[in-house]
Amino acid sequence: MAEVIHLNYTLLNILARFGIRLGFGEKTVEQVCQEYEIQTGFFLEVINSFNDKTYKPGKNPKSYPVQLIIDYLRKSHEYYLSVKIPQIELLISKLAELSSPADANLWEMAMRFFAAYKKQLIDHIEHEEEVVYPYVVATENSYNTQEFPIKKLNPAAYSIGKYAKEHNNIEDQLFDLKNIIIKYLPLPSRPELCQTLLEELFKLESDLNDHARIEDKVLVPRVKFLEKWLQDSGNRRSV
Ligand SMILES: [Fe+2]
Ligand SMILES: [Fe+2]
Repeated sequence: MAEVIHLNYTLLNILARFGIRLGFGEKTVEQVCQEYEIQTGFFLEVINSFNDKTYKPGKNPKSYPVQLIIDYLRKSHEYYLSVKIPQIELLISKLAELSSPADANLWEMAMRFFAAYKKQLIDHIEHEEEVVYPYVVATENSYNTQEFPIKKLNPAAYSIGKYAKEHNNIEDQLFDLKNIIIKYLPLPSRPELCQTLLEELFKLESDLNDHARIEDKVLVPRVKFLEKWLQDSGNRRSV
C-alpha cells in the first residue's frame, strides 16, 4: 500500500475517503483492504481510475456490488460539500477582507461567482442522490432477486443511458473562476493566500473530474449490463 502513495500522492485523498489511515507498515493492498473490510476489487478499480485516465474497469456484475460504488460516490459528495467548498469559501472571503476598499468589490464578485457555482454543484449532487442512485440501487436489487420491481420505476422514462447523456461537466465553471483570478483580480496584501486558493481550485477541479469518470466509466457500464440483463429476462418471461 505504501508504494501506491509513492506512485501517486494525490491518492491520499482517496484512501481517506475509504477511511484508511496511514501507518500500514509493509502491508499489501489486499491486507489493508481486509483490515478495513473494503472489497479489494472495488478499491483497485477506484485507485486505477484515478491514477490512469485511460483505465477501463471491468463490467463483471459479480465482482462487487454496485451499492459499493454508490456508497463511495455519496462519501465524495459529502467531502465536496462539507470540506472542500467551505474551505474555498473561507479563502475567498479572507481575500475580500484583506483587499483594499478599491479592490474589495472585485473579490466580492469572485465570491458571488463561487456561490453560483456552489448552487450548481448542489443541484447536480441532489439530482444524483435523489433520482439516479436510488434507480441504480433498485436496478441492482431487481438483478439480485431476479424480480422486476424495476418496471415500477418505468425504465422507459428513465435509464442509466439518459443519465450518461445528460451528465454534465460540473468542473467547467471552476476553470472560468481560476482564469478570472489568474488574469484579472488584483493581488491582495497576502499573495500566498491567493496561491493557496488557486491550488485548491485546481485540486477540486481535478477531483471532480475523477469523480465524474467513476460515474461515467465504472457506474454506467455496470448498470447498463444490469438493465440489459433485466430487459432480456423480461422478454423471455413475456414470451
Ligand atoms: Fe456525483
Ligand atoms: Fe456527477
